[in-house]
Amino acid sequence: MEISGSRILLAGATGVIGGKLAEALSENGARLFLAGRDPGALASIGERLQSETVVLDYSEPESVAGAVEAAVAGLGGLDAVVVATGAVAFGEARDLDPEVLTRLIEANATGPMHLISESLKRLEPGGSIVAITAVVAEFPTAGMAAYSASKASLAAFLSALRREVRRQFTVLEVSPGHMETGFAGRALAGEPPAMPEPEDVDDLVGVIVQSMIDGRREIRYDIRSRELQVK
Ligand SMILES: NC(=O)c1ccc[n+]([C@@H]2O[C@H](COP(=O)([O-])OP(=O)(O)OC[C@H]3O[C@@H](n4cnc5c(N)ncnc54)[C@H](OP(=O)(O)O)[C@@H]3O)[C@@H](O)[C@H]2O)c1
Repeated sequence: MEISGSRILLAGATGVIGGKLAEALSENGARLFLAGRDPGALASIGERLQSETVVLDYSEPESVAGAVEAAVAGLGGLDAVVVATGAVAFGEARDLDPEVLTRLIEANATGPMHLISESLKRLEPGGSIVAITAVVAEFPTAGMAAYSASKASLAAFLSALRREVRRQFTVLEVSPGHMETGFAGRALAGEPPAMPEPEDVDDLVGVIVQSMIDGRREIRYDIRSRELQVK
């Protein structure tokens, strides 16, 4: 896709990866509509990037359709939706709190699916859907069973969606390894296990933007080579 002049709804703009993606897309000339949950952080990034904003919280389903409608109205159409939202929880499966499980699945699976579904109704032909899963979707990890399952769920949704819309839209799944964004410290529950050496967030962001330009389908962290592989 041509990034310059494109109209993009970016969900999770208040997060670390989402914020850096917003900056990179803005530098490449995109017209952004930024969605986030924390109103203060959202106002701050909106001001910095001179972009309109909308509060999006998956626990309030009307805010999901509302974010898409606000973006379409504000930008005059929609060429891409980028989903950089998510949450993690740690701990063994036997200790799983049902309320934490519900919030985790909402943040990583049902919420993003709902947002993508609403966006599909308004995306221009040739548009792009970009969503961040995680390496644990492919390599489920002990102490992160529910997080792994929530990300695998979104990955399966994206694969099926790609088949459904292959003649109309590009679907890009971004499946990174561990990065030092403070994400683990914001866990809904539990303490993180020992993590591998963190990967570079700016590298990931650069690869995502280039993959959007090139119309790629997958960015995957390869655990053996410790590199991002793009398909
Ligand atoms: N960091 C890593 O090591 C890593 C590795 C692999 C994959 N990922 C994935 O990358 C994505 C971004 O991670 P990050 O490191 O940038 O984390 P982050 O800084 O904590 O950002 C998470 C974003 O998701 C939003 N969010 C969380 N729960 C939400 C909900 N229920 N409804 C709406 N928005 C919600 C947050 O909004 P507010 O801040 O406004 O509340 C924030 O914008 C996540 O999907 C994560 O699973 C991260």
